[in-house]
Amino acid sequence: MRTDTAPVVRLEDYRPTDFLIDTVVLDIALDATATRVHADLSLRRNPAGREDAPLVLQGDELVLLSVARDGVPLTADQYQADPQGLILPGPLPDQFRLTIETVVNPTANTKLMGLYRSGGNYCTQCEAEGFRRITYFLDRPDVLSVYTTRLEAARADAPLLLANGNLVERGDIPGTGRHYAVWHDPHPKPAYLFALVGGTLDTVAEEFVTASGRKVEIAVHVEAGKRERAAYALDALRRSMRWDETTFGREYDLDVFNVVAVSDFNMGAMENKGLNIFNDKYVLASSDTATDADYAGIETVIAHEYFHNWTGNRITCRDWFQLCLKEGLTVFRDQEFSADERSRPVKRIADVRTLRTQQFAEDSGPLSHPVRPRTYREINNFYTATVYEKGAEIVRMLRSLIGPAAFRRGMDLYFARCDGTAATIEDFLGCFAEASGRDLGHFAQWYEQAGTPVVTASGQYDAAAGTYRLTLSQATPPTPGQPTKAPMVIPIVLGLVGASGDALPIATTNEATVDADGLFVLDSANATITFTGLTERPVPSLLRGFSAPVRLESELNDDDLIVLFRHDSDPFNQWQAGQTLATRLILAAMRGETVNTRFGEALGHFLDSDARNDPAFAAQVLALPSEADIARDIGRDINPTAIHNARLAVKRALGAELAPHLNALHGALQSSEAYRPDAANTGRRALRNAALDLLAAGDATEGAARATAQFDEADNMTERLGALAVLVLIPGAARDHALATFAARYGDNPLVLDKWFALQAGIPEEGTLDRITELARHPAFSMGNPNRIRALFGSFAMTNATQFNREDGRGYDLIADTVLALDARNPQVAARLLTAFRTWRVLEPIRRGKAEAALRRVAATQGLSPDVSDIAGRSLE
Ligand code: BES
Ligand code: ZN
Repeated sequence: MRTDTAPVVRLEDYRPTDFLIDTVVLDIALDATATRVHADLSLRRNPAGREDAPLVLQGDELVLLSVARDGVPLTADQYQADPQGLILPGPLPDQFRLTIETVVNPTANTKLMGLYRSGGNYCTQCEAEGFRRITYFLDRPDVLSVYTTRLEAARADAPLLLANGNLVERGDIPGTGRHYAVWHDPHPKPAYLFALVGGTLDTVAEEFVTASGRKVEIAVHVEAGKRERAAYALDALRRSMRWDETTFGREYDLDVFNVVAVSDFNMGAMENKGLNIFNDKYVLASSDTATDADYAGIETVIAHEYFHNWTGNRITCRDWFQLCLKEGLTVFRDQEFSADERSRPVKRIADVRTLRTQQFAEDSGPLSHPVRPRTYREINNFYTATVYEKGAEIVRMLRSLIGPAAFRRGMDLYFARCDGTAATIEDFLGCFAEASGRDLGHFAQWYEQAGTPVVTASGQYDAAAGTYRLTLSQATPPTPGQPTKAPMVIPIVLGLVGASGDALPIATTNEATVDADGLFVLDSANATITFTGLTERPVPSLLRGFSAPVRLESELNDDDLIVLFRHDSDPFNQWQAGQTLATRLILAAMRGETVNTRFGEALGHFLDSDARNDPAFAAQVLALPSEADIARDIGRDINPTAIHNARLAVKRALGAELAPHLNALHGALQSSEAYRPDAANTGRRALRNAALDLLAAGDATEGAARATAQFDEADNMTERLGALAVLVLIPGAARDHALATFAARYGDNPLVLDKWFALQAGIPEEGTLDRITELARHPAFSMGNPNRIRALFGSFAMTNATQFNREDGRGYDLIADTVLALDARNPQVAARLLTAFRTWRVLEPIRRGKAEAALRRVAATQGLSPDVSDIAGRSLE
């Protein structure tokens, strides 16, 4: 293990490399413990680099066998090499070939970075800095090379050999039992997009004809025996390819597109050029093993990685500080794809839920950072909700500000101008400034300033004058390294609603402009809009569609919220009104008060009318704000148990009050048709599960009976798991029986057992800690597999607020111990688990002290990886 803190990398220190690598020819002989890598690099001096500079290549745990320049082996005095680097001091010619032989052990690679084994196959993960674990290289995204890869292996060991690009040649090596395949990728790319796969895989494939008539073989490869579960991923891939043609005019650019699913993977999936490698969780699905949410996840991740072909691969990042250039933009694109394929408002609500639970939480604590950070120690720790989710919100705000037509022109310009380059945020924004004729200088602040802006709204109605004065102000709280904040450019989409639910006409007097779509741009600390011509007091509907990633504080009373909940023409704000009303109920319960907001009544009315027209939306309405949502609202001295109890009390009361409606819904939404994962059926099942969850809160006996029946009768995982999720919350024999039945049925399916681990890790009971210790000894559990770790320990730390935050500190200790045990094996996954402590400072004093002690214990441990050391250090700053 490397030790201690890595040096700080700064954006301001960026300079181009001294050398460029035009072509890379790899010859790789796959072997379980000694894979030989022969790399032939054609180098030349970078005109933008320093004259006479030495050549400095990065490595990571490499063993060098030989090195030659222009075919002549180098002698010991002509280079310096260690596992971390290879230096040629020079003098060096302006152009030369460098041949490097290294040997790596894929079986011993537990970090799952570089070349490793999964399920008996060979695969690679090179983003961000994994290629240097295969050969010495200029391992940074602004070095673009054309790759040719020859793979060789025993045919029995690896009948399938894949790499980036197109297959140019394959054949046997007579008399050896070995074979080879040569792949060529004509598109220059950075090393992080390199990939290879070798092994025994089952394939589903079809032909895709691009808009301009090019034929592409698209294929999904899965571990042997899992072929039946690959069809949906292939379908999602075909739909993604078509969507990018129709929506952005982007066609695919190779003869083949391969997706490979592996069972050991640090992240979700990876966009390697022409050879995407996936965590099999985001590929494998059947009605019996995957939930509707899994299907939706597969669709999203397949789309996301495919869309990177243009936003990430054809145009890549100049340096890792520009990560949001590819990730934020590509998340925006996959969100738009899923919105088009399913329900746009429901997708928006789901995305905002994620943004708030992940990004707002991150942004309010010690790990807060700008969407484009200025420094990092370990880049793996910057694949964050801020870079991804807030990065996507910035692109969405850009589209609102300049309008969809100018946005599309800007994207076209970006694709035309930056294709084949390693670009920056400035390059990206420049295209939109040019396409729209707008100055985006102030808007660019969104990339630089961390923290969630708080927008405060207050209004005054003047009946005599028929005017409504709306005052909006903004402030962003301080974040690490940014004590003072400047006003941002905040697009606020708004409307006015009358007491009986009509949309009121929008006319303003003063300089404040609200456009035909209801867009007002708040770009200073305060602004006032005067609406005129009003004959009644309006209810303002602000931040429609969640038009900016901010916290909105408005002074609406409960009656106003009921109006919006019942009548707002903007579905997002209709949903938000319900969430705000529910939050008020929960906060009142925490104060020991009972209030009547008429929310239950409105919800009952909703369940009998609109809910049946749009079940997917109704399911979102029925789901109460999460414990984390409530905690964020309170903001300080958080006692997760008090929040949990108050929320549960409100849930029980609503469940009891709405029991007749919920029972009726749960019955009516049953279907005897064959399972289909389409939007309509997904919505129906989501509402059915949400109704069951709420009615079980109101009446545990009736709930357990209905859940048991649903569990037994279900012909699909969505309803089976929905029932089990309800049952695990009700201690008793029904729960024990269902858990045992489930484990027996899916004992040989690790991905399904992950759901079983996760549900149990989330039980808000004292006994959960011991249950987890027990489950960690289950034969299906393994500390070597990231999905297992996330299912058991990740779910506990991220979703079980009362038990992770036990007052005795044992929850923190369990996670700290797990992080330390995991660090030597897989630092990336260990560091991510440690981010569960990201909001520790807002806890009440006793828990805060215990959490801090656990973090300090981790930070003080000798021999930490740079990954864990970085998170622990920043968390304590
Ligand atoms: N490029 C990333 C994968 C990645 C992440 C590589 C971190 C190295 C370090 C990929 O495109 C990605 O973003 N994957 C996401 C899923 C996606 C749908 C947001 C992931 O893996 O979580
Ligand atoms: Zn991505």
